[in-house]
Amino acid sequence: MNKRTRAGLRLVGVLAMGLAAPLALAAASASQPWMNPKFSPDKRADLLVSKMTQAEKLHMIRSYFGSPGGPKGFPMPKGALGSAGYVPAIPRLGIPALQESDAGMGVANPHGARPGDGATSLPSGLATAATWTPQIAYKGGKMIGHEAWSKGFNILLAGGIDLVRDPRNGRNFEYAGEDPLLAGEMVGSFIKGIQSQHVISTIKHYAVNDQETARTTVSAVISKKAMRESDLLAFEIAIAKGDPGSVMCSYNKVNGDWACENKYLLTDVLKDDWKYPGFVMSDWGGTHSSAKAVNAGLDQESAGEQFDDKEWFDKPLKQDLADGKVSEKRLDDMVHRILRSMFAVGLFEHPPTKQPVNRAADKRVAQHTLEAGAVLLRNEHDTLPLASSTASVAVIGAHADKGVLAGGGSSVVVPWGGNAVPGLKPTEWPGPIMYQRSAPMAAIASIVGKSKVHFAEGDDIAKAVALAKRSKVAVVFAQKWAGESFDWVNLKLDDNQDQLIEAVAKANPNTIVVLETNGPVDMPWLDQVGAVLEAWYPGSGGGPAIANILFGKVNPSGRLPVTWPRSLDQLPRKDLPGAGGHGTPDKSVDYNIEGADVGYRWFIAKDKQPLFSFGYGLSYTQFSHGTPKVAAHGHQVKVTVPVQNTGKRAGADVVQVYVKAPGADAPHLAGFDKVSLKAGASQGVTVSLHPKLLAEFDTASDDWRIAGGDYQVYVGSDAEHLGQPVNVHLAAGKLAP
Ligand code: GLC
Repeated sequence: MNKRTRAGLRLVGVLAMGLAAPLALAAASASQPWMNPKFSPDKRADLLVSKMTQAEKLHMIRSYFGSPGGPKGFPMPKGALGSAGYVPAIPRLGIPALQESDAGMGVANPHGARPGDGATSLPSGLATAATWTPQIAYKGGKMIGHEAWSKGFNILLAGGIDLVRDPRNGRNFEYAGEDPLLAGEMVGSFIKGIQSQHVISTIKHYAVNDQETARTTVSAVISKKAMRESDLLAFEIAIAKGDPGSVMCSYNKVNGDWACENKYLLTDVLKDDWKYPGFVMSDWGGTHSSAKAVNAGLDQESAGEQFDDKEWFDKPLKQDLADGKVSEKRLDDMVHRILRSMFAVGLFEHPPTKQPVNRAADKRVAQHTLEAGAVLLRNEHDTLPLASSTASVAVIGAHADKGVLAGGGSSVVVPWGGNAVPGLKPTEWPGPIMYQRSAPMAAIASIVGKSKVHFAEGDDIAKAVALAKRSKVAVVFAQKWAGESFDWVNLKLDDNQDQLIEAVAKANPNTIVVLETNGPVDMPWLDQVGAVLEAWYPGSGGGPAIANILFGKVNPSGRLPVTWPRSLDQLPRKDLPGAGGHGTPDKSVDYNIEGADVGYRWFIAKDKQPLFSFGYGLSYTQFSHGTPKVAAHGHQVKVTVPVQNTGKRAGADVVQVYVKAPGADAPHLAGFDKVSLKAGASQGVTVSLHPKLLAEFDTASDDWRIAGGDYQVYVGSDAEHLGQPVNVHLAAGKLAP
């Protein structure tokens, strides 16, 4: 064959291959028009549903527990990966399987269902919220979304946003604090990050699941107005910003009706008022009926074969369809919503591709999140930052020579190499007590030199004191484990940690405490120590992040996303009956006590002085705020405030804008921005106020209204320390949608 012929044949081959793809697409589009990415997600879902049998539709509206074991000890379903949930593919229609993984800190590995598999853990959701930087939340979501996708998952059950109404709630570490605007903005960005990786994010737990005690039976009692202006407002802001493919309804009841069959929540608010286009999945064991749940707005039963008292979306639903209690139209709508989310997030065009992840890069994302989210609570006489020339450092307690603590339950991430401190009880649910492999001691040693750093575990106080005595500086790590399915009985540190800290502080005037907690804890020794850093549950980059802050390589800029009470007496509910398994849980919890005045709004309205306020956090430099200028155009209000770094080193400040409406009992956060400034630099920071935070929810007209009148606008360094108010007059009226 001569060269020309070969070349000609090559050209034909190339042309044929070049045409193959469009031809294949054309063929697919012809026989499977829903595969055409040029159509809208809704159109594609309509086209696909129209070709499905009833059996295929019923296949889509329930998931299976995707790991071996579970409450009934079933084997892992064929095709599952070893995770929380799984819906088999429908090859005939080109529908990929749904592989669902937990959750908010990273890709969980439930009870080692994927032996040897590890993942990167972000720090607590509270730590991400404490950065007050949506872009950081986005990057964190993108990182765990990519790890999920690289492990074969296309749904992450991540996007926890229940408000912190009680600092004892065992799952606060999975959430974003007490304020609906901060939580909404941060979790909305987090969701965007996850879904940028073609993994559906699941905002949860909808709704008012604000305690773990009796979580599957307790009824949250709260007025519609208060609920819309607090817990639901957080969801509304996050859904508007992040467009999550799914919502997970919660275990609890709301005003007497299970959340997963609560028409007001699932249809009236979520689907009708907010026009939510995605699908509602139940929590694992949260489905309690078929027709009632489906007609209230539940679209998918999660793992009912193991977790529900009946497989409601199997035979009972088929019977309800046959009896006309559920319409075929509603069944189509359920399937449409699931498929629409799959098309919208790109699950058809971008199926997960199993591949190794860049562990070092992902760990840096976790580290940078904590560096920006750790909160410096106390720093007397500039105890911090420490000099890297410090002659000797005692590192004490909380297994700081091995790792950092993580929260327990379904969200726990298993590090590569396994638990840094295995065997701590409880080893079974809601355990294991997991320590991420990021030892603060090694990170400190890398700064000051290995020979200068020595460790003592906190359980031998005498030994710890002796080490502190002979060290220039003593850093005590104190931890308090929390986890899903139980609440703390109180805020006290356990295992004699208070005594340890007091003894070390007596032995060394340069004592620093680093907290690894679910949130606020009692600190009876606070005035005896030089500095306190809240490091939350620090995540896979916790060690270096903590060390970099202690030694000033990073200037702390975290601000509290929760109020830090002086005592439980200050809370709307001093007692939490049944917490930690002590006492009998109440059948309901009355959130109308505080209503929408969650956290700092409660403290201000009741004139209570917290230990540390929402929005509080120290820096190694200082900032000043000039007189704010307020510009209102209709209900769009912008506030510009001069900010100056008056200290000696670069740092970041969070400009917080609070608004007090006429007649309101407390101001609340209406906008914020974080600004980085070099020493001496100043900048005009403009913050747009979220209109919904200027309005109130009017249940009579079922919409948001501006009352009208003079609104007081404050710029604060935290909720308690507000500058002089600037008045702005707003006209009364319905808020533009
Ligand atoms: C749980 C949790 C939920 C989790 C689900 C799957 O019990 O409440 O957050 O995503 O089960 O593990």
